[in-house]
Amino acid sequence: MGEVDPAFIQDPEHRPKISFTEAQGIPLIDLSHIPTHSSDDVTAVNEGVVREIGDACKEWGFFQVINHGVPLEKRQRIEDASRKFFAQSLEEKRKVRRSDKEVLGYYDTEHTKNVRDWKEVFDFTIEEPTLIPASHEPDDKEVTEWTNQWPDYPTELREACQEYAQEMVKLAYKLMELVALSLGLPGNKFHGFFKDQTSFIRLNHYPPCPAPDLALGVGRHKDGGALTILAQDDVGGLEVKRKADGEWIRVKPTPDAYIINVGDIIQVWSNDKYESVDHRVMVNSKRERFSIPFFFNPAHYTLVKPLEELTNEQNPAKYREYSWGKFITNRKRSNFQKLNVENIQIYHFRI
Ligand code: OGA
Ligand code: NI
Repeated sequence: MGEVDPAFIQDPEHRPKISFTEAQGIPLIDLSHIPTHSSDDVTAVNEGVVREIGDACKEWGFFQVINHGVPLEKRQRIEDASRKFFAQSLEEKRKVRRSDKEVLGYYDTEHTKNVRDWKEVFDFTIEEPTLIPASHEPDDKEVTEWTNQWPDYPTELREACQEYAQEMVKLAYKLMELVALSLGLPGNKFHGFFKDQTSFIRLNHYPPCPAPDLALGVGRHKDGGALTILAQDDVGGLEVKRKADGEWIRVKPTPDAYIINVGDIIQVWSNDKYESVDHRVMVNSKRERFSIPFFFNPAHYTLVKPLEELTNEQNPAKYREYSWGKFITNRKRSNFQKLNVENIQIYHFRI
């Protein structure tokens, strides 16, 4: 263990098992017949796909999509640029380092639940500027801007990221339409929440780790936003907690597929019909791994609460309303620093 800083060591009950169960059953959904971002068309479409999405959200909180319409060359371009960026020296990467004030850019000291993650990341936002509360304090009404920090090298990184982001946004709207339909709501039900979206993309690099049995690339967590669209490479390492029995199941890489997971906000909107599921990332001692999650997040001023259409006297709202902007600023703060308190979770708003 000598080489690994104790900050990375998971408590025994959270350590990964080196032998793992590979996912059978995480649904693979073919989107080839779904038109792009135009709600009228979607309604007419394929009820089968809508049902598959609904079942996957209910049973797993996770699924993979193929024939999703994102051009492969755009994905390859951002993946190549990401490799080049992370291959640089720490000194170079730290020129676009995240700080207390600059929330975006490069950093290698993220904590999940107060244990350090075995990874380095580069974050950038989609909307420029992205408006966000200046602090997590509930009474502080000040709003600030997230601004991207682009590195000089590789020169194509910025454009590759921006083009890829547009593709992610299109796919995210399409998926949200399918989720809405699967809940018996109009296809465009969620669109309005994303007008001033606070979505961001993260380039993840998980270097080989000398103690893959003690550390994790990302500790167990749920994604706080609405929906996540993840591109993983062929190395594998993502594990999902199976709802049926609580086992950690590895998601087998499928070339050119995206992994989709329900975030906390869909859980609250759907009043627990769909659940945001725990997941984590295992590392290994031989191969580095790269992944690119897109976090689809609503406007900072969104007050998240169970949808009226999905609640009634028999099924009353299970959550109090909360501010998304305050939630995310609170999270960001605890990911950056090791705090002695648990980070914010939706169950804190449970009725
Ligand atoms: C995340 C995450 C998974 C991965 O960044 O929230 O769950 O495979 N990443 O990198
Ligand atoms: Ni995640």
